[in-house]
Amino acid sequence: MIPFYLPYVNDDIIDNLIETIKSGWITTGPQVKILQEEIAIITGVNHVLCVNSASSALTLALHWFGVKPGDEVIIPAYTFAATALSVLHLGAKPIMVDIKDDFCIDTANLASAITEKTKAIIPVDIAGLPCDYNEIYDVVNSKEIRSKFQPLGDNQKKLGRILILSDAAHSLGAKYHGRPTGSLADISVFSFHAVKNISSAEGGAICINLPQPFDNKKIYDFLRVVSFNGQTKDAYAKTMGAEWKYDIIYPGYKINMPDILASIAVAQIQVYKKKLLPRRKEIFSLYDKAFENYDWAIAPPTRTKKKETSYHVYLLRIKDITESQRDFIIEEIFRNGVSVNVHFQPLPMLTVFKNLGYKIEDYRLSYKNYSIEISLPVYPQLTNENISYIVECVVKAYNKVLGKK
Ligand SMILES: Cc1ncc(COP(=O)(O)O)c(C=O)c1O
Repeated sequence: MIPFYLPYVNDDIIDNLIETIKSGWITTGPQVKILQEEIAIITGVNHVLCVNSASSALTLALHWFGVKPGDEVIIPAYTFAATALSVLHLGAKPIMVDIKDDFCIDTANLASAITEKTKAIIPVDIAGLPCDYNEIYDVVNSKEIRSKFQPLGDNQKKLGRILILSDAAHSLGAKYHGRPTGSLADISVFSFHAVKNISSAEGGAICINLPQPFDNKKIYDFLRVVSFNGQTKDAYAKTMGAEWKYDIIYPGYKINMPDILASIAVAQIQVYKKKLLPRRKEIFSLYDKAFENYDWAIAPPTRTKKKETSYHVYLLRIKDITESQRDFIIEEIFRNGVSVNVHFQPLPMLTVFKNLGYKIEDYRLSYKNYSIEISLPVYPQLTNENISYIVECVVKAYNKVLGKK
C-alpha cells in the first residue's frame, strides 16, 4: 500500500527529539523559539508565535481583532472546516464566497459579500497556492468598502479597515509576486499538523505583519501571554532563578506549543528549502508530465507569473465526470494499493453548515472542483517508481470506471 502521507523522519529528527526529551525540558521553551526563528527566516516576518494548531491560531487572531457575535467574516466555501469554525467559536457568522477555477477565493465576489458587519476576510491558500492578495487588498482599501467598516475597539480603529487573515495552513514556502507566504497578509497562520509540508504532529504558527502604527513586537508579546492562560510568565521563565511569582493579566487560552513537538519540526524545517520543498516540486513535475498524455486529466495550478505553490497537495481533476464516477475511481485506486484523498468537501456539504442554512447550490465552482477532484500522495519519501505506479493506478481506474479500452 502506498499511504497518502508519511511524516518525514530521519536520524536528525529522531536525535533532536531524543535530545529534547533528555534535556529535562519538554514543554514550551528553546525548541519553540528556534522554530519561530526558522519560520521568520522563511517568511521574512520577524514576529512569529507558535501555538498548538492552526485552528487555535485562527481563533486567537480573530479574538485579538475583537471579532464577536453579530460580526461577519468572509471565507471561501472551499476549505477545511477549521477556517469556518474559528469564526463560529467567536460567535460571528462565516460568509461563504465561491472559488475560482484555481481553487482560490473569487475576488470578483468579495465586494458584494461585504457588509457593515464584516470584520475580516480569511483567504485560504488551498493546496499551497497563494490567493490573489493584491486584489483582496484593493477591495478592502477601496473608498467604498472602507466607508462601510464600522470599527469597535482599539485594534479595529487602528487598522481602519477589514483585517486580512491568511489561512496559509498549506502554503509555507509558497510565493506571490516573489514574496513569501506569511508576509502577504496582516496576519497569516500556518499549520504543522501531521500531513503538512513541515509537521510537528500538531502545531501552528501566527505571523504578525500588521501595518504601521501597530507595534508587532507588542502584539507578539500579548498573543504569547494570551496563549498561556494570560500568565505573565511561562513555565520556562519560572524556572530561571527565583522567578516563581506571576500574574494573570488576561482571560487567556491554553494553546502553547510544547518543545517536544517543536523539536520534530525544527529538524525538518532546517532542510525544508534545500531538500524537502525541491523534492515535492519534482514529484509535482513527474505527475504533470505523466498526466500530459491524457486529455481527461487537468493538472493543478502550481505556477503562474504571479504565484508559485508550496507543492502541498496534488489536486488532480478529471474532465467530464460526475461525483459518483469520481468516487468509483477512488475506490479502484484504493483497490490497487494507493491511498488517495479529496481536498475538500465544500463546507456547505457538511452537516454543521447545512444546519446553519448554507446550500451547496450557491457555490457552483466549489461543487464542480470538488466533484472531479482526487488528491494524490506527495511527500519526499516517494520514489519515482512510486509516482509511476500511482499514475498507472489512476489511469487504470479511469479506464475501468469510464468503460474505456
Ligand atoms: C485550510 C486549512 N486551514 C486550517 C487547518 C487547521 O489546521 P490544524 O490541524 O493545524 O488546526 C487545516 C488543517 O488541515 C486546513 O487544511
